Amino acid sequence: MNSVNIGQVHLNVVDRGSGDPLLLVHGFPLDHTMWNAQIEVLSSHYRVIAPDLRGFGRSGSTGDEMTTMGQFADDLAALLDALQIGEPVTFCGLSMGGYIAWEFYRRHRARLAALVLCDTRAAADSEEAARGRRLMASRVMAEGALAVPEAMLPKLLARLTLEERPEMVESLRQTMLATRPASIAAAQRGMAAREDSTALLGEIDLPVLIIVGEHDAITTVEEMRQVAGKIPGAQFVEVSHAGHLSPLENPPVVSGAIEEFLGAL
Ligand code: MLT
Repeated sequence: MNSVNIGQVHLNVVDRGSGDPLLLVHGFPLDHTMWNAQIEVLSSHYRVIAPDLRGFGRSGSTGDEMTTMGQFADDLAALLDALQIGEPVTFCGLSMGGYIAWEFYRRHRARLAALVLCDTRAAADSEEAARGRRLMASRVMAEGALAVPEAMLPKLLARLTLEERPEMVESLRQTMLATRPASIAAAQRGMAAREDSTALLGEIDLPVLIIVGEHDAITTVEEMRQVAGKIPGAQFVEVSHAGHLSPLENPPVVSGAIEEFLGAL
């Protein structure tokens, strides 16, 4: 585990293995440990970079009211600079990590070799969804992070995972409760303000793999199939026995799909 200074903040990052670089970007409100299984397997052939985003895990934060997806994307570009990774990377993001991927594509296209988008969406929030996020941000600032696992866990995991894997549920709960309320609120406000990326999809001129858990309740199989359909040549993998956190709920299928995709580049 390294702590890397990127200017305003330091980012906590796993940098393991050698070969073509693979950047793994976690979802909200989690940290890099959601990729532990992929780090283990994929670092035998690739240089895997798995950071905690600004404000999450053990990374630092500046306490801003809002962290935009653009800020997260710029942080990741600065991290690659700090790690002296000049060659194009495969950017693999889950959910909020996917929202950041669209922004990384807009701002740092030349740094990309390929995209892997897990359980995410291209559309912006509806006004109602954005209002819900701003309410959650105010609530967390007033009451702390306690309400977050209760609101999120039932949506993040498939029913069977919730019923049969209490240790995973507990570990996610602890990760959320350990996250600073201000960071949760700032990311919620940033997601509420994010740009719609639907129009970008047809322009994407990179190899793309789309992955979605069959029981994903947040970004459904149908929605992700539509995203894949709009990206020229995108590959699509539906992951059985998994909800929104497919890399965690069914690691062999997700790691295998990424490995096969990268192997064919
Ligand atoms: C995530 O997993 O990153 C969140 O579900 C994203 C979101 O709240 O839209």
